[in-house]
Amino acid sequence: TFGRADGARGLRFAPVAPNTADQVTVPAGYSQSVVIRWGDPILRGAPAFDAKNQTAAAQAGQFGYNNDFLALLPLDDSYARRQVLVSNHEYTDEVLMFANYDADNPTREQVEIAWAAHGLGVVVVQEDHRSGKLTPVRRHELNRRLTATSEFRLTGPVAGSDLVKTSADPTGTKVLGTLNNCSGGTTPWGTTLHGEENFNQYFANGGAVTEPVQAARLKRYGIGGAASERKWERFDKRFDVLQEPNEVNRFGYVVELDPYDPTSTPRKHTALGRFKHEGAQPRLTEDGRPVVYTGDDERFDYFYKFVSSKRMKKGTSRAARAHNLTLLDEGTLYVAKLTGDSPVAEIDGSGKLPADGEFDGTGVWIPLATATADGAVSHVEGMTAEEVFVFTRQAGDKVGATKMDRPEDIEPSPRTGRVYVALTNNKDRGAAGKAAADEANPRNANKHGQILELAEHWNDPAATGFAWRLFLVAGDPNDPATYFAGFPKDKVSPISCPDNVAFDAHGNLWISTDGNQLGSHDGLFGVATRGDRRGELKQFLTVPRGAETCGPLVQDRRVLVAVQHPGEIDGASVENPQSVWPDGPGKIVRPAVVAVYRTDGGNIGV
Ligand code: FEO
Ligand code: CA
Ligand code: CA
Ligand code: CA
Repeated sequence: TFGRADGARGLRFAPVAPNTADQVTVPAGYSQSVVIRWGDPILRGAPAFDAKNQTAAAQAGQFGYNNDFLALLPLDDSYARRQVLVSNHEYTDEVLMFANYDADNPTREQVEIAWAAHGLGVVVVQEDHRSGKLTPVRRHELNRRLTATSEFRLTGPVAGSDLVKTSADPTGTKVLGTLNNCSGGTTPWGTTLHGEENFNQYFANGGAVTEPVQAARLKRYGIGGAASERKWERFDKRFDVLQEPNEVNRFGYVVELDPYDPTSTPRKHTALGRFKHEGAQPRLTEDGRPVVYTGDDERFDYFYKFVSSKRMKKGTSRAARAHNLTLLDEGTLYVAKLTGDSPVAEIDGSGKLPADGEFDGTGVWIPLATATADGAVSHVEGMTAEEVFVFTRQAGDKVGATKMDRPEDIEPSPRTGRVYVALTNNKDRGAAGKAAADEANPRNANKHGQILELAEHWNDPAATGFAWRLFLVAGDPNDPATYFAGFPKDKVSPISCPDNVAFDAHGNLWISTDGNQLGSHDGLFGVATRGDRRGELKQFLTVPRGAETCGPLVQDRRVLVAVQHPGEIDGASVENPQSVWPDGPGKIVRPAVVAVYRTDGGNIGV
């Protein structure tokens, strides 16, 4: 029966039961440790974290807030068992950071701390060879923080365009900062990718713009209203669209970082389009060109892929590395359009399986624009190529892309090439004036989300057509409107709101959740995608109160998760904490990266 430590190879652990404990709960026989927390010093000269005496200067040398995407890259230092940990720091939650925070009147110091707590982190970690535990190597020469004020370079078809020029940057190529980095990816050429997601929230006065073209663009990207939530516009006018209308066009891209070169300027790749990028995970074509799958996390928005026209150079020579940093500058951006194969009448919005037993069908990748070394070509009537790359959502609207239930992380399986799209939820599906359920998004008022499995034609990631089916329709397995790839539902864990996804070396899919609607905490799950255990979903861990599970990262000996926004519950504050994780009562709640190991030192799930 379910509960035993059997399962597919890599998933042989006793599943964790749903719970509301204010801790990270792991399977029997497993241990955990905090690898690094918000505020831990990583750069030379950075002080120890002091919740009561925070400064922007200190934060700039410390681990950032709200860790999300994680990557671990090899370091050519095998004797010392070191790896390079790269993290996203998506956003700040000021009421949980600052005592007596006044949201109407933030101080300059608080705003500058928030700028320094956003962005990316690079920190070398050391493995204890016996326990497998990871600890940060402070002051390592590769350690780095990139924040809301660090320099980034716009590259690709939009670099230098009038659409991205500002008074501070008349070249349209030099951007200060990256914002709201959610999920990401690791490239085969040894760099990391980082999605800029809900960048709209940082910009003020979108609602005051009256010029119709600009107003429509801002509205499509959710940039409205007057003051922004964090009031950054009071301290830097670039966050006010009335004063600096193009600054907002310089956010919403996929960022590429070379963690091995601490002096490098990270790039914002405009050829992958501009929207609320969740993550970005590449797969190579047979001839070595990267294809990057990306999702736009908004209700009724689209998912995309970028097919590079340039081939990766192998090896780590200086020339190869320099070439590979340009791979994402030239190629074609596509958006997905899906068609179901069951009669519309069988998709009634209740989530009941259609008569053919599957939510499935075919799809096409619609080309939006192509970037070349000599310029860019639009494939969308009425839009220039630059407009397609900057106002990509509007290009998707024009070509009739399929409106999805919030596309979050998308990853191709390194084993099979099949692509898994986490669609987290969509409470507005089927609401008045909104798109109704369809075969890929089969539930109205969708609370729990689904995972779509996509097979490119001939298993070629550059193909323009694909087949798809739903792999999971999430929720309580006792709910008839759920589906676990056909696996018996009395033998699976309940799951709600899939968000980030990752693969282990066995080819199992790992899924982390955000916003569980089943009354228990978020967590991490593993599921086989092949064989007779396909669909056997098992919960591996749960996270503390108010937290979302991010990362995740599964290596042979450990599972890493980023515990994001612990204690984030309506009404919570430093004075009224709703979680005491990870440091216990009386200590400020701190987002942190946690590693989980097998207590006996063995491999995960075998
Ligand atoms: Fe930042 Fe779409 O989750
Ligand atoms: Ca069907
Ligand atoms: Ca996410
Ligand atoms: Ca999310």
